[in-house]
Amino acid sequence: MRRLRHWIANRGWKGTFLEAWRLLKVKLRRKRSGAEPAAETAVAAAPPPEVHPFDQRYGVESGGLIWGERLRSEEKGGYWATGYYGISPSVLWQAFDRLALDWPSFTFIDIGCGKGRALMLALKYPFRRVLGVELSAELANLARENLERFRADWRQEVPAEAIAGDATNVELPAGPLLLYLYHPFAAPVMIPFLKHVHEAMARKPREIYLVYINPELDTLLGRSAFLEKLWKECFPLLGEDAGADRFGSRQEYVSVYRFVG
Ligand SMILES: C[S@@+](CC[C@H](N)C(=O)[O-])C[C@H]1O[C@@H](n2cnc3c(N)ncnc32)[C@H](O)[C@@H]1O
Repeated sequence: MRRLRHWIANRGWKGTFLEAWRLLKVKLRRKRSGAEPAAETAVAAAPPPEVHPFDQRYGVESGGLIWGERLRSEEKGGYWATGYYGISPSVLWQAFDRLALDWPSFTFIDIGCGKGRALMLALKYPFRRVLGVELSAELANLARENLERFRADWRQEVPAEAIAGDATNVELPAGPLLLYLYHPFAAPVMIPFLKHVHEAMARKPREIYLVYINPELDTLLGRSAFLEKLWKECFPLLGEDAGADRFGSRQEYVSVYRFVG
């Protein structure tokens, strides 16, 4: 029921019906041919490692999958949380390399930072500051512990912290912002979140970019009067990331927007 409500909230009744119809056709086609898709067979043959190589290398714990319904949060927005899953490092780095902003003037904010994987990855860039906001207090604590433990020779000396809070009312720091979202929530939270950011920008005009990975709500964002779409690109999961993905994904879409007027 929860998944169905997410679908309807994100796509509307018509979009939900069309998507269900498409999935049914794929299933029927597979049943008729009696074949499993090649990618699924390959994944079944080689299960991903228990611990992501990134965590192993740096002695942190940012792996695992926690579905939305299992995320414990007293906040009301929790119902619309998609779940916790850490980003593949190679995807975030490829997207940032393409974006190539003037890093020292930007604060990086991970909206839904979970255990802090993206916060650690962002420390490869000389941001002014790195900040994570997380609905689950338990996950925010883990992110803080990971940041304390995390050592890498490429880690920049940048202030980094994770706080527990809701994306729709978090106080946004002054100055240019790079907001990063790894599809953290459904439309009923995305809409007030975008409004919240737009109001903050109206009070203090500055550059605000939004990097949206696995952009399920691209259509909604594309209709927003607050946003200008800059680009969308599909990045491959490189090297060890490809074998470590528990969904067997080999690529990830990334959309980048800029807040306007
Ligand atoms: C897919 S995980 C992304 C984790 C991390 N950003 C990364 O890239 O590795 C999404 C996270 O968003 C959090 N979340 C969901 N709704 C939220 C909200 N309204 N405010 C803050 N965090 C939220 C979830 O608890 C979850 O940890």
